[in-house]
Amino acid sequence: MEDEPPAPQLQPYPDLIIRAARPSDAEAITTLVNLPRFRHGTLRMPYQTLAETTRRFSEANPNRHGLVAERQEQIIGEIGLMRQSGRRAHVASIGMGVHDAHAGRGVGSALLAAVIDLANNWLNLRRLELTVFVDNQSALGLYRKFGFEVEGTHADFAFREGRFVDAHAMARLK
Ligand SMILES: CC(C)(COP(=O)(O)OP(=O)(O)OC[C@H]1O[C@@H](n2cnc3c(N)ncnc32)[C@H](O)[C@@H]1OP(=O)(O)O)[C@@H](O)C(=O)NCCC(=O)NCCS
Repeated sequence: MEDEPPAPQLQPYPDLIIRAARPSDAEAITTLVNLPRFRHGTLRMPYQTLAETTRRFSEANPNRHGLVAERQEQIIGEIGLMRQSGRRAHVASIGMGVHDAHAGRGVGSALLAAVIDLANNWLNLRRLELTVFVDNQSALGLYRKFGFEVEGTHADFAFREGRFVDAHAMARLK
């Protein structure tokens, strides 16, 4: 896949709902993570199965907070906040993605704003961190908009579509 084309100017969705993910969302989330643009920006493997998604939901982990973006009864985005433990209990990592057909409409912003509110105002976290492929312009734009800064670059961070790709480490400190 080539670098993503520039996104057209699209209107945000006024009827977007951000809520906790439920076990019954597993099928919709499996569909989401198997979309090609979603996979291009994340570490998802092709052909992720419903069983793999269901396993993520069935693991009882009080440190993981999963949210979804829902519109007209369709799941069009997801975000996960994973709190670290011990001496890194003030830190959480973030992973997220938006449905290919709904990118550029504020869904990612709504999900990230919800997780930052959770982190700052309810979990009292100091540091949020993530990795992002260096060519993922929309994700870099989103994270910069919310105050994340590049701290460094992982060389050959992951294998994607036949070649290795670098990733930036980004973080946001409260
Ligand atoms: C990256 C992603 C989460 C962004 O979500 P989104 O819903 O498209 O983002 P939004 O519409 O809320 O846009 C938020 C900001 O991102 C930036 N942005 C969005 N699309 C962009 C693009 N094509 N180029 C540059 N910046 C872009 C802008 O700064 C935008 O803010 P603005 O509209 O106020 O200017 C989404 O495109 C996605 O899921 N991509 C595939 C999976 C992925 O890459 N996940 C992230 C892994 S690190």
